[in-house]
Parts: sequence; C-alpha cells; structure tokens
Amino acid sequence: YSVADMGRHDHGGHAPGGDASTVPVDELTAPDDREADVRLTLTAAQERVTLASGRDFDGYTLNGSSPGPEIRAVQGQLVEVVLENASVPDGVTLHWHGVDVPGAMDGAAGVTQDAVGVGESFTYRFVADQAGTFWYHSHQVSHEQVLGGLLGPLVITPAAGTGADVDALALAHLYGGRRTVNGRDGEDRVAAEAGDTVRVRVVNTDFGVMPVWVDGAPFRLAAVDGTDLHGPPEIEGKGVEVAAGGRGDLVFVMPESGAVRVNLSASAALLVGEGSVEASAPPDDVLDLLHYGSPAPLGFDPASADREFAFGIGRRPGFLDGKPGFWWTVNGAMAPEVPMFTVAYGDVVRMRITNDSGEAHPMHLHGHHAVVLARDGVAATGSPWWVDSLEVRDGETFEIAFVADNPGIWMDHCHNLPHAAEGLVAHLNYE
Ligand code: C2O
Ligand code: CU
Repeated sequence: YSVADMGRHDHGGHAPGGDASTVPVDELTAPDDREADVRLTLTAAQERVTLASGRDFDGYTLNGSSPGPEIRAVQGQLVEVVLENASVPDGVTLHWHGVDVPGAMDGAAGVTQDAVGVGESFTYRFVADQAGTFWYHSHQVSHEQVLGGLLGPLVITPAAGTGADVDALALAHLYGGRRTVNGRDGEDRVAAEAGDTVRVRVVNTDFGVMPVWVDGAPFRLAAVDGTDLHGPPEIEGKGVEVAAGGRGDLVFVMPESGAVRVNLSASAALLVGEGSVEASAPPDDVLDLLHYGSPAPLGFDPASADREFAFGIGRRPGFLDGKPGFWWTVNGAMAPEVPMFTVAYGDVVRMRITNDSGEAHPMHLHGHHAVVLARDGVAATGSPWWVDSLEVRDGETFEIAFVADNPGIWMDHCHNLPHAAEGLVAHLNYE
C-alpha cells in the first residue's frame, strides 16, 4: 500500500495501489458509479463561534455552526460529503469516527490524504454499512480542531427503523472548558410524551471518559460504538461510562411523570419531556459491559488468531519533534517510531492492550470494530461488547480481537487527542 496513492484531492472514491487481486473491490472504494443517496457540502471555517447561550470563543465551524450539521443516513445508502475549506489555515479533513469506511475515505491527514488547504475541497464517498451512532471530526491538528468544535454527529438508522418514537442526540462537548449538549451550555431538551419509547444517542467528543446515568426512568443500553447489544436487560441505579470518542445508545420508555433526565457527567444533561427531574449524584455502580446483553456469534474464532500483538502503553523521557519531554509510548517507542502492526487481509487479529503509563487512555482503532474478550484476566463467555473507542485505565489489561477486513493504513491512537500529539499513535497496515 502506498500512502501517496491514497485519496488525493478531488478523487474521492478511488484507493489505487495494494493487491486488489485478493481483496474484493468494494472493500477498497465506495462505488464510483452509484448516485449518492445523502449528499451535502460542509464548509469549514476558523472563526469566532457563538453558542445559543450567547457565550462565544475562538474555534471552528462547519456550515457556520459547531457542532456541524447532523448527518442522517439509512443503512445501505451512499453518503457523499464535499468538504470545503473556507478559512482554516492549518488545513482540514473529515474522519468518520467509528464508521469502517474504505481506506482512502478515512480522513487521516498525512496517512490517507493530505489536509485540505484553504480554497481546496475533498469529496468523501462511502456506503453507510453499519447502523448506529457515529460522529465526524477533523483529523488535522486534531487536538486543536476537535477541541475547537470541528465536528458533528452522524446517525445511520436500520432500514426497518429503530422502533423508537423519539430518536434524539446528546452530543457532549467541552467548549472553552464548559460542557455542552448539542452545542447548548449545560442542557438541551427534547419533546416526548408518556409511553413513548425514547432512544438517546450519546456521543462523547471530549478527551476524557464521561459517566452517563438516567433519572426518572429505568433504561437499557441498546448499543455501544454503533454495535447492538442484543436485548440487554433494564438498568436502574447504575451508570454507563462512555469513552472519549465513544457512543452509547440509551433506550427507555417515558414514564407517566412525563420527565426524564439523561445526565452527561454532573455538569450537563439532556432533558426529555416537560418539566424537570432533580439530578442525582453519579452512581458508584458502573455497568460492566463484559457481562451485559446477549452474546451474538462472533463469526470468527479468536482462539485461533492469525496474528497476536501486544499493545503496551507506557511513558518515558525522550525527544519528540526535537523537544525534550516525558512522552507516551507504544511498546516502548514513541510515534512516529512505533513499528506498524502488519496484517494480511482476512486475518483474525488478537491484541493485548496493557497500560503502565500512570494515566487512562481511550484507545481508538480506525476502520475496524474489535470485540472485547477480557479485562484484567476476566473473560466474557461470548462478549457482546464491540468497540472502536475503548477506555483503558492505568494498570488495566484488555484482550480484544478483530478481523482484518478493511485494507489500508489505519491509525490506532489515544483519543485524549493531546496524548496522540504526544506520541500515543500506532498504525495498522496491510501487507
Ligand atoms: Cu476520532 Cu483518529 O479519531
Ligand atoms: Cu492517552
């Protein structure tokens, strides 16, 4: 695979290079000959952003707002987004966080494409294969541009619908250090009536893990990172942790009281219905996703993996871009010196993630979803828990597995994005 050949400006749709003889073509590119079902232009600007509350700050917008517009598609539809850069001097890209797009469409500046300069554009095309909650954000100088609001939600619904009467977003983001929901300071509200089935799609666009809990009704966690948990039981008095970059879909039935409060940390909430419910303290009891929901068949056998990798997160003194510091490492090396994890198309890959770095790291693998098999030596008997964003705390060990079914060069990095800028980046490469 040659990086230079992948997805140059204005050629959205082709990822030439690579050994296409062994890889189905639709794994490499979105179909060029198909009409887009969902089509929009997103114009990025660096400017003063004003929230609904009137609070303003220096940041970034897409089509004049931050967060950018909600993109909705039905599973199977072809999404086409033209990204234009009006005024972002560092250049921009769009990464479809959690969507396993073809390699050339991944939006990783310096890996799958060049950043789109001021006055330039790039066309992204991909088929919305997986139903679920996702988001998009710039992947150029990400720790600044994502923090500054160059992001937005992406929802892919199943053709048969979700069965919800109310389907609401709760995109959390810290602007200027204050938590917002859907771009509103502290709280946002959505209408619902008693008896309605409500699905709330929580998106954590921040750099740290976010506790989520519900006051006013028992709820189910229906999906994590765009993957269904298959008939999970109802939860009461428990919280859910959503990793940085991660998503959690909560489903509940509106009670007779007509008011529910979905807490996104202690500083923000989505209010559902009318009136208000008093906020409770974050529950100490946190849902263990290894033992929740019903395991669906994996479709592969993680016990006979073709590749096994250790992904050891640490920290040591060294030089990064000539600057001395105490930097994050992967297997003892700092980016860009971390050796690539090399796989072949079709491989079953197992990865053992350890963290001895002194801090938590929300690890995000591009282009693939991995199943979590075990945490700290405790294995799930058939895990329903698939992730693209996994909170790995200091001292924790995770066993994950995935199938290498998406050729390209894929970043695997910490989504506490300043950490990625400080060395916590690895790549998955196809031989
Ligand atoms: Cu959401 Cu590589 O990022
Ligand atoms: Cu980190």
